[in-house]
Amino acid sequence: MRSILIAGNWKMNAGPVEADKLSAGINEKLAGRTLKSDVVVCPPFVSLHAAVKNLKDSPVQVGAQNVHFENNGAYTGEISTSMLQEAGCKYVILGHSERREYFGDTDEVIAKKVKKAIADGLNVIFCVGEKLEERKQEKHQKVVMGQIKAVIEHLTEEDASQLTIAYEPVWAIGTGETATPEQAQEMHQFIRNYLNEMWSTVQLSGVRILYGGSMKPANAEELLKQEDVDGGLIGGASLDAESFSTIVDIAEKIQS
Ligand code: PGA
Repeated sequence: MRSILIAGNWKMNAGPVEADKLSAGINEKLAGRTLKSDVVVCPPFVSLHAAVKNLKDSPVQVGAQNVHFENNGAYTGEISTSMLQEAGCKYVILGHSERREYFGDTDEVIAKKVKKAIADGLNVIFCVGEKLEERKQEKHQKVVMGQIKAVIEHLTEEDASQLTIAYEPVWAIGTGETATPEQAQEMHQFIRNYLNEMWSTVQLSGVRILYGGSMKPANAEELLKQEDVDGGLIGGASLDAESFSTIVDIAEKIQS
């Protein structure tokens, strides 16, 4: 049985001062509670410290939004897996469409990062998703399959235990437009079947597949209720302690 994972992607929002307030707000809502769901927030690097400090007595874990694939050295501007762990991170988001679009994260680069992060003990939220054009041309399954293949062919079946996949249709990110629960379920089931084909010997029922793209309190329940939707990767709505914790409450209700 897969428990739900609710992950907040703060993107390039909330510097240390604001992150202090936001994580304190989330802590106020969730501290001291025993949750069935796993919950994680992913602030910008400079705000990790504030979030880790404020959430240390809560069930909420902290993750990062990127990592480099080398151990250390002359890579100006980059951050390593060991730095993230030292800062208190348990998760890292990789392959986000914004990184693919603006920062040259190709399938090949993403594969290296995912492999390195898993090898060093981080849990990876690996994002895939098609663009609007690709959906219109009914290429969405092919595109997503290609993105997944490019990464998981470099992984071993044991790596699956640290892997979460986030399906984020690019046309639904930050646009207010959400995939319908049926569209989400269809793609999630497709992804799960594909993983089962690629990895035949491992027990894959444990790999979580999150939905991301304008998830908010108003639509979280119908999305999270879908059989193959195992959680959400939430951008905009994770920047507000109230909406984020409301989505966590919805996840808890579904699992009770
Ligand atoms: P959104 O972002 O919830 O603001 O659409 C989701 C994401 O990009 O992870």
